[in-house]
Amino acid sequence: MTPTPIILDCDPGHDDAIALLLAIASPEVELIGVTTVAGNTTIDKTTNNALRILELGGRSDIPVYRGADKPFIRPQDIADHVHGESGLDGPDLPPPSTREQDLHAVDYLAQEIRARDGKVTLIPTGPLTNIALLFALHPDVRPERIVIMGGSIGEGNRTPAAEFNIWADPEAAQRVFLEGLDTTMVGLDVTHRALITDAHTERMRGAGRVGKVVAELMDFYARFHKSRYPDLAGSPMHDPVCVAHVIDPSLMTVLDAFIDVDCSGGPSWGRTNVDWRGREHFGDPNAKVGVDIDGDRFAELIVERISSLG
Ligand code: RIB
Ligand code: CA
Repeated sequence: MTPTPIILDCDPGHDDAIALLLAIASPEVELIGVTTVAGNTTIDKTTNNALRILELGGRSDIPVYRGADKPFIRPQDIADHVHGESGLDGPDLPPPSTREQDLHAVDYLAQEIRARDGKVTLIPTGPLTNIALLFALHPDVRPERIVIMGGSIGEGNRTPAAEFNIWADPEAAQRVFLEGLDTTMVGLDVTHRALITDAHTERMRGAGRVGKVVAELMDFYARFHKSRYPDLAGSPMHDPVCVAHVIDPSLMTVLDAFIDVDCSGGPSWGRTNVDWRGREHFGDPNAKVGVDIDGDRFAELIVERISSLG
């Protein structure tokens, strides 16, 4: 089976880091490039973290391209309360021995997607600033598929109304959903059922060098989630769900929907209004939305693939 070429546009971040490692550990996908965006932390740190994680996984050959350092319009807000000062607090990860490419992330995305005649699955797991810039600057560039971590049908996590990635740059997100591509939204409704427990973490801790680092990432990441989400049985693996969905589409249930982003600037700005019941939008879905996931099989996939990295 030919692996699916993917590009992660990410803001590492603990869960982005695990999504990167899942991708390089999985023969079903080929991680051809990584682009970075400011989100969980600043662009300097998300870029540095992407380089460090690829090096940890023995894949410094995968090129990293630095992207947008702030949202289109909204003031920048980072999530250091979740990911710490470095954006990857927990393990003692050495600085990278490689550096990012000189080409800007958006220009790389345009170049790579054109060169592959669109046969690339784009997986944004941070604010959508780079992706919206791509479509604005290069309207001819059409990736065959885009699987976004962001949004929610129900409650948010950055505010009661909005999930962080969409909230951070709602205008960019709206631009992406209006693009009419084969788009799948992986929101909190699903990722809050995609949980890594302490037991999963302990299995990875004993599985080798990479597993130990991932366990230390989870130790830090779980600290926030145990206090903020005591109702969850583990820590939500937001970004890895996107990669897992490409690896094994049977894991997640999706429905057609019309997704609209609240860019009003009011208390609900950044909210994804997901019409999957045809209330206002009949027969004109602009995306698929994740509505359920087999959480046990997902967690086993994470433990198995991270443990395989040795
Ligand atoms: O709301 C969760 C999302 O925001 C994840 O992608 C996390 O890494 C942060 O970017
Ligand atoms: Ca992220």
